[in-house]
Amino acid sequence: MDCLVIKGGTPLKGDVKISGAKNAALPLMAATLLTSDQCVLRNLPNLSDVQFMARILESLGASVEMNRGTIRVRARKIDGFGDYDLIRKMRGSICILGPLMARLNEAKVSMPGGCVIGARPIDLHLKGMRDLGAKVRVEAGYVHAKTKRLTGCESFLGGRCGPTVLGTANMLMAASLAKGKTLIHSAACEPEIEDLAKFLNAMGAKISGAGSPTITIQGVRRLRGAEHRVIPDRIEAATYALAGAVTDGDVPLRNCHPSHLSAVLDKMREAGVRIETGRNTLRVRPAKQLRSVDITTMPHAGFPTDVQAQMMVLMLKSPGISIITERIFESRFMHVNELARMGADISIEGPSAIIKGGQPLSGADVMASDLRASAALVLAGMAAKGVTRVNRVYHIDRGYENIDGKLRALGANISREPGQ
Ligand code: EPU
Repeated sequence: MDCLVIKGGTPLKGDVKISGAKNAALPLMAATLLTSDQCVLRNLPNLSDVQFMARILESLGASVEMNRGTIRVRARKIDGFGDYDLIRKMRGSICILGPLMARLNEAKVSMPGGCVIGARPIDLHLKGMRDLGAKVRVEAGYVHAKTKRLTGCESFLGGRCGPTVLGTANMLMAASLAKGKTLIHSAACEPEIEDLAKFLNAMGAKISGAGSPTITIQGVRRLRGAEHRVIPDRIEAATYALAGAVTDGDVPLRNCHPSHLSAVLDKMREAGVRIETGRNTLRVRPAKQLRSVDITTMPHAGFPTDVQAQMMVLMLKSPGISIITERIFESRFMHVNELARMGADISIEGPSAIIKGGQPLSGADVMASDLRASAALVLAGMAAKGVTRVNRVYHIDRGYENIDGKLRALGANISREPGQ
């Protein structure tokens, strides 16, 4: 397993182009199953999760051609329910449930397990399918859903921790081909949901309200092929903005939508980081004096859970006490013990992490546990004195396109080495 070796202490300088959004790409790729026509998606990031999803589409009988960020998919016919082993390996593949139900009136997908960040149930996905008239059973590790014809409904998709992003995506895709009108209450408002609705509408769906908590879908008989450009990755953009901030660097970001990042930028400004925004650009410059801040993760447009770990590194640099309260996933503080190896003073009290900032970090051997935790360790390594080895970086390759190459281009001293 490869590891990243980082020699800290260099302020990042130069501009970086943000890639297409992983979390938009996965449901968009699943949506190509809704038509027998060809669909084209552009600005796809080159990530292992995206390649994985392409293999899942192939295993369902679709022809898939991928070339430099563009994918052409034609699912003329869907053969069976795909390769269960593949589907089981990536949690995001649950978003094939809605398209399979819409196309075949039946779906069998492996029940995803929990992961290091929490239990990750799918009860709301299943509720959505039941509300649309499907009979759903969970048996021997599989979800089996079946219906004669999906029928429009009124469905409340709010859960214990708020709306569900991929559950809303599944409902949008299934309801697009259902008979009659569907109203989703407490829908996820994430930009990735708006992007999916835009693509579905280009395919002939009739969706309004995406991006708000109430979405209306008027079912249609068939969807046609369409072309679409994936939105920029707001989590990757936030990660590079924070990488600039924690190294006292000057980093302009290209191809990003600052409007998708208002909660993160607001907190970074409150911490003292200087930020300029354009329509598709963002520039981060060093703070004159960093200050402690508190954040609570929330569904969009609140502070995203996917940026919590990276924000913690900025808090470690800011003198005083900062508090992070994690409200989306129950165990998303796996990075804390690893940061402690670098000298971080953080204690966990229930859903909150209390960070005593302003003390120097020192390089250490650390272990990546999930995608965003790994990104935080890379940021900490760049802010620290000495050498940091981040082991198990395959996590980071799931969600950050060429992270070491992009950081090297900004002047970071980072290299990839085969791990032990
Ligand atoms: N939840 C339920 N029941 C469900 C579904 C979710 O209780 O049926 C709960 C979850 O346990 C969690 C909350 O609802 O407490 C939100 O989960 P959500 O369903 O929104 O998460 P997701 O759709 O599975 C996506 C992203 C995650 C991101 C979350 C929250 C993709 C592929 N994944 O997951 O991304 O953290 O939304 O924004 O889009 C990442 O990129 O690192 C990542 C984990």
